[in-house]
Amino acid sequence: MTAALRPTKHTLDLGPAVELVSKEEGHRQPLAPEFVSAEDFSPLEVAYDFGRVRREDIEAGPRSIWRYKKLLPVPSNVEEIPNTEPGGTRLVRADRLAKALGLKRVWVKDDTGNPTHSFKDRVVAVALAAAREFGFDTLACPSTGNLANAVAAAAARAGWQSVVLIPSSLERAKILTTAVYDGNLIAVDGNYDDVNRLATQLAAEHETWAFVNVNVRPYYSEGSKTLGFEVAEQLGWRLPEQIVVPIASGSQLTKVDKGFREFGKLGLVEETPYKVFGAQATGCSPVSTAFRNGHDVVQPVKPDTIARSLAIGNPADGPYVLDVVNRTGGAIEDVSDEEIVEGIRLLARTEGIFTETAGGVTVATAKKLIETGKLDPDAETVLLITGDGLKTLDAVEGRIGPKATVPPSVDAVRQALEG
Ligand SMILES: Cc1ncc(COP(=O)(O)O)c(C=O)c1O
Repeated sequence: MTAALRPTKHTLDLGPAVELVSKEEGHRQPLAPEFVSAEDFSPLEVAYDFGRVRREDIEAGPRSIWRYKKLLPVPSNVEEIPNTEPGGTRLVRADRLAKALGLKRVWVKDDTGNPTHSFKDRVVAVALAAAREFGFDTLACPSTGNLANAVAAAAARAGWQSVVLIPSSLERAKILTTAVYDGNLIAVDGNYDDVNRLATQLAAEHETWAFVNVNVRPYYSEGSKTLGFEVAEQLGWRLPEQIVVPIASGSQLTKVDKGFREFGKLGLVEETPYKVFGAQATGCSPVSTAFRNGHDVVQPVKPDTIARSLAIGNPADGPYVLDVVNRTGGAIEDVSDEEIVEGIRLLARTEGIFTETAGGVTVATAKKLIETGKLDPDAETVLLITGDGLKTLDAVEGRIGPKATVPPSVDAVRQALEG
């Protein structure tokens, strides 16, 4: 269940990280490339001793996730080590989208601007930095697509080997945008949950392979806190009132919340109340279903949706997503494939941002949450747009295209525009 601890070349430096703690019963253990507690079999999470962290120190840092290095499990000199330098993406005031949705104030966190065009560059950069400290030499993952891109690119930049496992049915663009980095890309005949199981077996066998979302998952997942940190800093050092987050494994949602709480506890923002909302595709909505039924466990499902990046039928952090959403007073909804495409088109038409299917899920879910009275139209709302539409062109293929194809004449264009 856990990878063997690699001998490290030097004293372990993971910055403010001090221990791992089990999520269920709080058992503590030393920092290691392990992800499940041997005591209570629950996921392990990084515990910190932050000391004093000031706004000025963060503001003086680089325009990447490393400005928050004092809040991450990474070495103190992390920005000097070759990496893809993710983060620092735009927070866009989205007035036209707000109007279309019937909301007063909406911000879009546009994470398509990362090096491989999704938020996964954040988590992979943190995982790679921690994996280096543990003495691994190969970066690996099972992936629904975006993680594959991020791992292959980060390994290439670091001069590491990569082993990336994907379901063979993945979007063509996501396969090509991983293969281009020339690592070991393996397409598996099976769905993501099959691929994930395979990765767990391989992680136990290969002690020099860091599977970012398996054996070094506690470190990897902390990278998603930087989405929360950036949103709060970009809002002028304050928390939004509502945030809508897409769910696959559920890690991102729980860590955005953790980021907000850490900023609050450290006095970097005022601890104002906020609600966290979750977004899923109906064709893979185990967490949304559990929320609707008032359950605290998540029943696995077999995914069938165009939102393949979110197609995790057995989400590792499902129960913790339910905890966060219930604690903050949010909600979870799911939307059909048709609504996802509409969500993609709505964001493109109102804000000029082309998102992948996961972003379509977020926008369409926000719309549904407003219609069902769960999102407050008067509260300031942030939508997390976590990936780029160029990777999921098949979702819009055949539904959009030129208004007309005409000969090169002014009359023909005029007629086409009038028609
Ligand atoms: C674009 C995009 N957004 C959101 C997610 C959800 O991430 P998590 O597994 O942390 O819930 C994924 C997961 O692959 C993704 O690719």
